[in-house]
Amino acid sequence: MAHILHIDSSARGERSVSRMLTQEFIQGWKAAHPTDTVTYRDLGHHPVPFVSEAWIAAAFSPPEAHTPEMIEAIQPSNQLIDELLAADRYVFGVPMYNLTIPATFKAYIDQIVRAGRTFAVTEAGYKGLVEGKKALVITAEGGQYRPGMPTEGYNFQEPYLRGILGFMGITDVTFIHGDGLSLGDEVREKSMTEAKAAIQQAIETW
Ligand SMILES: Cc1cc2nc3c(=O)[nH]c(=O)nc-3n(C[C@H](O)[C@H](O)[C@H](O)COP(=O)(O)O)c2cc1C
Repeated sequence: MAHILHIDSSARGERSVSRMLTQEFIQGWKAAHPTDTVTYRDLGHHPVPFVSEAWIAAAFSPPEAHTPEMIEAIQPSNQLIDELLAADRYVFGVPMYNLTIPATFKAYIDQIVRAGRTFAVTEAGYKGLVEGKKALVITAEGGQYRPGMPTEGYNFQEPYLRGILGFMGITDVTFIHGDGLSLGDEVREKSMTEAKAAIQQAIETW
């Protein structure tokens, strides 16, 4: 039995393609794995705070040195990290905004990447502490940035997410791209068919 943390980050609701695709995956997964549990977080509609000076001071000092302001500032981070570590698998719905992830998802990452909790600084360098997990990232993009395309270098979303998730120790990461959504009916429909097939495959094999 696995526990899944499902996070969406589109600013849109019913029109969101990334939400529609993560929902399709989660519904299929629950049907195939009825005893698995899911925690849901909606960053697009309920963003987490940005880090602040008090947050940074709290993150780099022992709890006994924390002022009331620091305790309040670091509280969301403690909660979000507990939630992250309690899950075995992650399903992230991430639109591309301006070649990368939405600011709401970046604010979330800034809350969960924390020395001593999700990564360690050792004599041998940095070490991710979030080990033994799997992540499925389902994206939505107006354009297409597939390997070999002239646009490939504009995709700062997948390389960034692979980098920062890997930094925390999450190295088993699968991407499904719902891309080409603004490139006309033919491209969009082909891409959606491919994304839905990849979702079905992930339901069976992830
Ligand atoms: C603020 C904003 C910035 C965007 N920037 C890009 C971009 O840089 N590249 C791209 O391919 N699509 C871009 N798009 C298009 C979205 O990726 C596309 O509409 C996607 O479907 C949004 O995800 P959603 O359907 O889950 O809301 C942008 C959309 C918005 C709203």
